[in-house]
Amino acid sequence: MNRILTALENKSTDRVPIWFMRQAGRYLPEYRETRKKYGFKEMVMLPEVAAEITLQPIKRFDLDAAIIFADIMTILDGLQIPVHFDNGGPEIDFDLANEAHLQRLFVHDYADILHNNLQFFTQSLQMVRSALAPEKALLGFAAAPFTLVSYLVERTTSRTHNASRAFLYKNSVLMHKMLDAVSTATVTYLKLQFQAGVNAVQLFESWGDVISPAEYQKEYFPYVNRIIKEVSKIGPVIFYNKGACVHKEYLAEAYQHQCAALSIDWRMPIDYFGERPVQGNLDPALLESTPTAVAQKVSEILETRGHKPGFIFNLGHGISPEAKLENVEAMVQTVKDFKP
Ligand code: CP3
Repeated sequence: MNRILTALENKSTDRVPIWFMRQAGRYLPEYRETRKKYGFKEMVMLPEVAAEITLQPIKRFDLDAAIIFADIMTILDGLQIPVHFDNGGPEIDFDLANEAHLQRLFVHDYADILHNNLQFFTQSLQMVRSALAPEKALLGFAAAPFTLVSYLVERTTSRTHNASRAFLYKNSVLMHKMLDAVSTATVTYLKLQFQAGVNAVQLFESWGDVISPAEYQKEYFPYVNRIIKEVSKIGPVIFYNKGACVHKEYLAEAYQHQCAALSIDWRMPIDYFGERPVQGNLDPALLESTPTAVAQKVSEILETRGHKPGFIFNLGHGISPEAKLENVEAMVQTVKDFKP
């Protein structure tokens, strides 16, 4: 049984399925070992290496899903917008005032350009899918439109996202033109991932919590729903919003657009959406505490939502590099031992 796909259909599984955001990353000694030999982007662009890293957390913890080792910026490589990771976080060579830069977003045929420029990525996906047991899901992903456009405006990781929030008011026409373009590109990009073998995809609105609910619902949520509606014709879409706690009043609308599951952060109750499929929501900080504290908190989440179908255990946000392996082990074991 593929537990992840079954849960996404809101059907019962023999136990609660588990995977977690950023599961292939710096908290893992084997990742740090591989990382000594390559730069981050190099690892993403070498299919054998990306496939090996994708499988590292599956080998260690026997999780129910592998998420492809790439980045939410990988689509920009497909669009020939240069992104560097030389100083840790992403640096994007994109200037809103430069017409030639903007034209990279407004292309006629996204399928062609993404297919041609992202062969390394489709190869990684194919390699992982063929190495993975059928009962394990392979997950693809993409950034949600606000998060991606925000990176183009800020050109790097911003804590406040003031420039992108201001940009909506300075030039709402261009902002919406960009959101529209990246949404169309993202639909094509996610379809490409299904063609290469993924079983489900997750949209990451990693900066959703900086936007007010009224503004998000009006300006950004329609693009998310458009992507969900289009892509779910081919396969399940999970929508992760780090600001789910801010936007919870209306987020359930995504289910009407065929969203397979909402993935929520740790600042709201896991049963907020009742019996609709949901993923989450352990506070990632717990993994820097102790196995006893982790087991306790994981059990609380399981007792609240784990008895009903349509639940995937995950963190409320990506695992931190400081997470301790013994805590990750306690989390995984507690989930596997729980009887629904
Ligand atoms: O989840 C996985 O294991 C799959 C791979 C994955 C990475 N990034 C690998 C990565 C995924 C799904 C992402 C998504 C991503 N990337 C997000 C959304 C998820 C979230 O946390 O909200 C964001 C905002 C990014 C952008 C990004 N990539 C930043 C800000 C940074 C630098 C800081 C950081 O958090 O590491 C990256 C680099 C990055 N992406 C690393 C990894 C493993 C670290 C690279 C290294 O080894 O130096």
